[in-house]
Amino acid sequence: MEKVHAFRVFEENDQVSARQVMVPMDEVGAGEVLIKCAYSSVNYKDALAATGKGKIIRRFPLIAGIDVSGTIVDSKDETYKPGDKVIVTGYDFGVSHDGGYAEYARVPAEWVVRLPETMSLFDAMAIGTAGFTVALSVKRLEDNGINPDDGPFVVTGATGGVGNFAIDIMTSLGFDVVAVSGKPEQIEALKTLGAKQVMNRHELELDGPPLEKGQWSGAIDNVGGDMLSWLVRTTNPWGSIASVGLAGGSHFNSTVMPFILRGVSLLGITSSGCPTQYRQLLWDRLASDLAPRNLDKIVTQIIGLQQLPRVFEEMLSGKTSGRSVVEICAPE
Ligand SMILES: NC(=O)c1ccc[n+]([C@@H]2O[C@H](COP(=O)([O-])OP(=O)(O)OC[C@H]3O[C@@H](n4cnc5c(N)ncnc54)[C@H](OP(=O)(O)O)[C@@H]3O)[C@@H](O)[C@H]2O)c1
Repeated sequence: MEKVHAFRVFEENDQVSARQVMVPMDEVGAGEVLIKCAYSSVNYKDALAATGKGKIIRRFPLIAGIDVSGTIVDSKDETYKPGDKVIVTGYDFGVSHDGGYAEYARVPAEWVVRLPETMSLFDAMAIGTAGFTVALSVKRLEDNGINPDDGPFVVTGATGGVGNFAIDIMTSLGFDVVAVSGKPEQIEALKTLGAKQVMNRHELELDGPPLEKGQWSGAIDNVGGDMLSWLVRTTNPWGSIASVGLAGGSHFNSTVMPFILRGVSLLGITSSGCPTQYRQLLWDRLASDLAPRNLDKIVTQIIGLQQLPRVFEEMLSGKTSGRSVVEICAPE
């Protein structure tokens, strides 16, 4: 049987490790649709999964990679035909089902989203789960009545993949974006993406009383922990915070005061668990009204499967910025 290149995660002697290997074609996942993978990407979740720093992977050995774009080569579901260009993100992809870091991926038809006509396979993975998560956050914030007239909008974890898209897209929606970052050397880059102001997270006083002066219309928070506690205490009446990430910790402290005295809303964002009916809609918006304006600046590197371990380590030690696209079989 034909074998293909794949980046696989193993659990051996209670240790998680990952490397590029050859796997038989019948070990690239199960489902109705077989995709020839063009590009994938690197997300914080991929780094946690493949290094074992987070208990993300639920079945070993497993091909990692929570995102992929590519072309269908075979489909047992009549919705799709060979040649269709598609995207897969989320669900159990790269978690308990073989993922996108391989030359081929086989997935259930329900997981497949059509590549919007004006989007390239490369741009789809430049955007990937990070951009999709921002589109989902925007949907939830809009449904909750967020308004640029209600004050500046905060983006934390600003230099990360999600953070970069959040600055770009919220700025294009008319918000004055305040970026919170731990990398002072990136201030100018964050302003180029649209940030009106950049706050140094190491200089913020994150402790405080249950309610502080309201300042923000809302936030997209990639950090969690004390940062999220601070955001909840300092958001304006009726403001909304999208809780996306945990780069700074998974616990946070709050009283109910911001919720019952100011009507502040804390919105949970789960891109992997996003209901199927919203997915195509959100990808189509990422190719139209939510299209990032600075994709060329947000993509900071294009790598191959072999460079993944280095990028994972850099990402988990907070040294990366923007997005890394993984080139697998670039279309001619
Ligand atoms: N809920 C969902 O569906 C969903 C989807 C995608 C991602 N996420 C989560 O969102 C977060 C961001 O993901 P990503 O892919 O954008 O990751 P990323 O590119 O690594 O960005 C994370 C950013 O967080 C900041 N940061 C890192 N370590 C920190 C620390 N110890 N304390 C405070 N801030 C720290 C850094 O920005 P600065 O140096 O600029 O502060 C870093 O660039 C992750 O926690 C990820 O798991 C969740």
